[in-house]
Amino acid sequence: KATYRVCTLPGDGIGPEIMAEGKKVLAAVGEKANVDFVCEDHLIGGAAIDACGSPLPDETLNAAKASDAVLLASVGGPKWDSTDPNAPRPEQGLLGIRKGLGLYTNLRPVKIYDALAGASTLRPEVIKGVDLVIVRELIGGLYFGRRERFYDEPGAGANGGRGQRAYDTMEYREYEVERIARKAFEAARKRRNKVTSVDKRNVLETSRMWREVVHRVHDEEFPEVELEDLLVDNTAMQLINRPADFDVIVTENMFGDILSDEAAQITGSLGMLASASLGDGVSLFEPSAGSAPDIAGKGIANPLAQILSAGMMLTYAFDMTEEAGWVESAVERVLDDGWRTRDIADDATPADHVLGCAAMGDKVVEYL
Ligand code: NAD
Ligand code: IPM
Ligand code: MN
Repeated sequence: KATYRVCTLPGDGIGPEIMAEGKKVLAAVGEKANVDFVCEDHLIGGAAIDACGSPLPDETLNAAKASDAVLLASVGGPKWDSTDPNAPRPEQGLLGIRKGLGLYTNLRPVKIYDALAGASTLRPEVIKGVDLVIVRELIGGLYFGRRERFYDEPGAGANGGRGQRAYDTMEYREYEVERIARKAFEAARKRRNKVTSVDKRNVLETSRMWREVVHRVHDEEFPEVELEDLLVDNTAMQLINRPADFDVIVTENMFGDILSDEAAQITGSLGMLASASLGDGVSLFEPSAGSAPDIAGKGIANPLAQILSAGMMLTYAFDMTEEAGWVESAVERVLDDGWRTRDIADDATPADHVLGCAAMGDKVVEYL
């Protein structure tokens, strides 16, 4: 019997609630497929800061490196929003594990479930057929650039601290753009063969290099894939104007972060968006959404993004595409039969079809 060791990182806020459902579904798949998924929890984010003062303890990174795959829920929350500039932040844990595992590719698929057409704030005819994937560069750019904050610029003390200065830098190396471009073209080959490369070439030097490198990789290695360039502001607009036209969107870290929340809303809720973070070694799977402090502890979070992230783990980490299909199909049938969590319910949803987090996990297991 095959055994896979999964490093599970529940984190903060709704993290532990949705992680429990992800594990539940994984266990059910394991039983059906005769595979053992051995999950071992480790600390990350605020929970790790509280326990040992660091958002990413060495022990956690080492356990992740030694595992077959990592399943993460979410980190962060108001509790750790300190005004002290030197206080550790939960988000550093997430950035640290992405960097530590070399996870330069983040795949965020956005697909409309027919049953959820009414949950979107966009009109059904606009979102019909939406099936795109955002390929986000995950360990470069502004998130990891040189940065600094100055509290004692001349004049700072004299006028009540108003002389502060801070900067972040966006920096990319050619090979970083090359490798993410390749991932995007490879993804497109398995899909509808179209890549939209998103940048801000009219302003940023990194973007001018980005566009040049993406085109070179295209011309040399993937000439048969259709390639279009789009400025990021225009992309934000086109995503809600004609979302069904997109197939693969490739972009740098920060643009990808922003566009993926926007794209998630096309589906009706951030609670639906799964993601896979891939490098050349152990990979990590995580919902795109955060710790949702506003609903944490209430048992009403939508666990489907977590469950679908576990599904992506089956495909990308264990090459279990058939079993991943079971998970996707179970989620689809649950939705087709009208089962909803609160975030994706609408006026037409009968009260007895609005499930809590755990009940939704149970429902998916039942349909498996
Ligand atoms: P958020 O994604 O946590 O929440 C945004 C909105 O979406 C909220 O109204 C929330 O209730 C809703 N939402 C998110 N996930 C949901 C789910 N599964 N079911 C139902 N509703 C859901 O973003 P935020 O409020 O801006 O950030 C909160 C904290 O999470 C911050 O500390 C932030 O840094 C962190 N964060 C972490 C991750 C991560 O761990 N991957 C991602 C994004 C944000
Ligand atoms: C995400 C999150 C993270 C990011 C934060 C929490 C660091 O928003 O995964 O989208 O910006 O990458
Ligand atoms: Mn984000």
